[in-house]
Amino acid sequence: MKKLSARQQLHLEKSVLLLVLMLPLARIIFDYFQDSLGANPVEAMTHRTGDAALQILLLSLAVSPIQRYFRFRRAILFRRLLGLTAFFYGLLHFSIYLVFDQELSFGDTFADVAKRPYITMGFSSLVIMLPLAITSTDKMIKRLGGPKWRRLHKAVYAAAVLAVIHYWWLVKANITIPAIYGGCLALLFASRMIRQTRNLSRKNY
Ligand code: HEM
Repeated sequence: MKKLSARQQLHLEKSVLLLVLMLPLARIIFDYFQDSLGANPVEAMTHRTGDAALQILLLSLAVSPIQRYFRFRRAILFRRLLGLTAFFYGLLHFSIYLVFDQELSFGDTFADVAKRPYITMGFSSLVIMLPLAITSTDKMIKRLGGPKWRRLHKAVYAAAVLAVIHYWWLVKANITIPAIYGGCLALLFASRMIRQTRNLSRKNY
């Protein structure tokens, strides 16, 4: 068999990752047609897409620590795909809410965003993710320049914090799962701070 070039190999790996990342969507579509989304299909779709968005967003933040602690240098090559997929699920999550809960009324949607604090948090998270998704192309990185692009993309932590608060505020009784997400995010943030402090002290010596 012909050996793949490095570029083809990467393309293949990214395609496999994309397929894996699309599994939550495939399951939703499958369950929808099987009529097995439960008594409230809209709620089930909202929850599943919200979970996928948050989990993949956290995974995208875990890329740098994975790269460092597991010496998996190539992990960085998959970060953009993870970030864009998280945004895709966030958008899908919002679209389900807009179409089924708000019946495509932008007026009611904005009134709800203003009225219910947990919706405000989710909406703000998605709004922050939008410019990050738009500026994720090579062309935009070049146009903005590395330092400016990196500064802008630090906002992904704000998007993740707001998404965790969104989840935390919507649960009525058991906060275990949002607390686990919050704990993971705190660890990821701490890891980033440690690296930044180390880099800074290396520069000073
Ligand atoms: C764009 C604005 C958003 C709106 C209007 C929105 C709305 C909602 C609604 C209505 C629910 C279900 C609440 C319930 O059942 O009581 C929900 C759940 C959830 N949302 Fe959002 N959301 C938004 C953005 C986001 C974003 C950006 C993320 C993640 C990055 C996210 C993650 C979640 C999670 C994890 C859940 C809970 C899922 C579960 O219970 O398993 N949401 N959201």
